[in-house]
Amino acid sequence: MILRTVNRWIEKLRKDEGGREAHQQEFIQKLQRNYNDEKILALELEAEAQLLPYDHLKQEVLEIARKEHEHAQKIAQLIRELGGEVDTRIESSYQAKPDGEFTQLLRVEKELGERLMEEANWAEDYGFLHHARVLRELDAEHHMNMENIERVIMRVNAIV
Ligand SMILES: [Fe+2]
Repeated sequence: MILRTVNRWIEKLRKDEGGREAHQQEFIQKLQRNYNDEKILALELEAEAQLLPYDHLKQEVLEIARKEHEHAQKIAQLIRELGGEVDTRIESSYQAKPDGEFTQLLRVEKELGERLMEEANWAEDYGFLHHARVLRELDAEHHMNMENIERVIMRVNAIV
């Protein structure tokens, strides 16, 4: 009787273990996609910055881009903590196409922030609590970056 109970218990533990591994793989894939999108956003911001007519505006946008590179690094760290390998090819393969429009980048900032929040909820549901916390911090930074980009848009509009 006891043996049967213990056996059932071991079987359940084994299943949970397998489940966690599957979730871990799924999570790594989600984070890799986030890593790529953070890098793309950073590269687009850098390219846009080069088109700006004033150095102080350029510096401001480069600072936002720096934050986005930092986000990618933090996500890379989360991937490594899950035992995954980070695919960094996007950095050299992506071709940014600046067009002087920041509204599109504002939307990307917003969408990416929302997705980080969704991933954070997902991570929390599956017990990746530290990861969830980091993702929420990144989402908060996206809100700050959105405000900064809005300020840049207003200044650019004031110049034209
Ligand atoms: Fe970001």
